[in-house]
Amino acid sequence: MSDEIVGYMTGERGKTTPTSVEDVEETVRKTNDTTNMNMNTNIESEALEIQDIEGIGPTTAKKLKEAGIVSVMDLAVTSADELAVDINTSKESAAAFIMASQKLLRDSHIIEKEFLTADLALEKRRSMLRCSTGSRALDELLLGGIETQAVTEFYGEFGSGKSQICHTLCATARQPIESGGMDSGVIYIDTEGTFRPERVEQIARARGLDHRHVLKSVAVCKVYNSSHLELIIKDLGKYVNDFNAKLVIIDGIISLHRAEFAGRGTLADRQQRLNGMLHKIIRLAEIFNIAVVITNQVQSSPDTFFGDPTKAAGGNIIAHLILDLP
Ligand SMILES: Nc1ncnc2c1ncn2[C@@H]1O[C@H](COP(=O)(O)OP(=O)(O)OP(=O)(O)O)[C@@H](O)[C@H]1O
Ligand SMILES: [Mg+2]
Repeated sequence: MSDEIVGYMTGERGKTTPTSVEDVEETVRKTNDTTNMNMNTNIESEALEIQDIEGIGPTTAKKLKEAGIVSVMDLAVTSADELAVDINTSKESAAAFIMASQKLLRDSHIIEKEFLTADLALEKRRSMLRCSTGSRALDELLLGGIETQAVTEFYGEFGSGKSQICHTLCATARQPIESGGMDSGVIYIDTEGTFRPERVEQIARARGLDHRHVLKSVAVCKVYNSSHLELIIKDLGKYVNDFNAKLVIIDGIISLHRAEFAGRGTLADRQQRLNGMLHKIIRLAEIFNIAVVITNQVQSSPDTFFGDPTKAAGGNIIAHLILDLP
């Protein structure tokens, strides 16, 4: 493991979606397989309907459904800019719908109030779960492991072990809380085609864990291009519920954007799209109380004379978002 590893921090809709790891090979053969996604969900927000939101009538509800926003929670985590385009309305109306959906969730005690007294804030911090990375040294660095309500970024050079950490997290997340896990499902978004279910099995066996149980709890999704990744992230709230996941891993967060937006002229567009995607991830982490792990490549920074001449790719967009985290 290189010492650049630092804490903090699938395509069109309806196409390939996450499937249980044991089905991966079959899914690769049968692309466009969308089975496994229609699982039962039982969280409280499911009881709420879009039309329960103040100011949203049947016409808007229909437009929202057409844009893929089917639950109050979906609306609550959308950005106003994105929604305004999706349902062809003004940014102000979009923002009002989002705020009304968040109010409904707050009033229903599904998400917390805007202002918390410090004792409640402390309680919230205590409700935060931590998941062991499987490495004692790394857990120490992260003060006990990766945490929910936050995004943790691992960045490092080619072959430094980022994907291996992600594979290990698949095994540790399923473990009971008292054993350093979160007793949770995992969503693994693989942008580089490097997810190997057999490696997860090997790690689980080596750690004396029930590998079948572990494999069944990982939903993996291979993404093929940046638009596919953005769509998966847009629907991530639904997948988190479907798979009862408390951990979302995005191995190679910017690889696809980096490859597709190559020239200088496309940089602003790329950064804007990355920004939208990352903000959504952070909102999901907070609202769903989930841990998000992203991995990132490094790029050389030839203007560095002292210290490490490499830095995480993605520029200030990624750095600011990560530093802004609680
Ligand atoms: N089955 C395995 N058993 C033991 N070690 C392995 C195994 N698979 C990979 N490794 C080790 O992990 C290293 C590769 O790490 P990994 O693929 O996690 O790198 P990475 O940081 O994700 O790189 P990249 O930036 O290319 O995605 C290999 O050099 C190898 O030492
Ligand atoms: Mg990798």
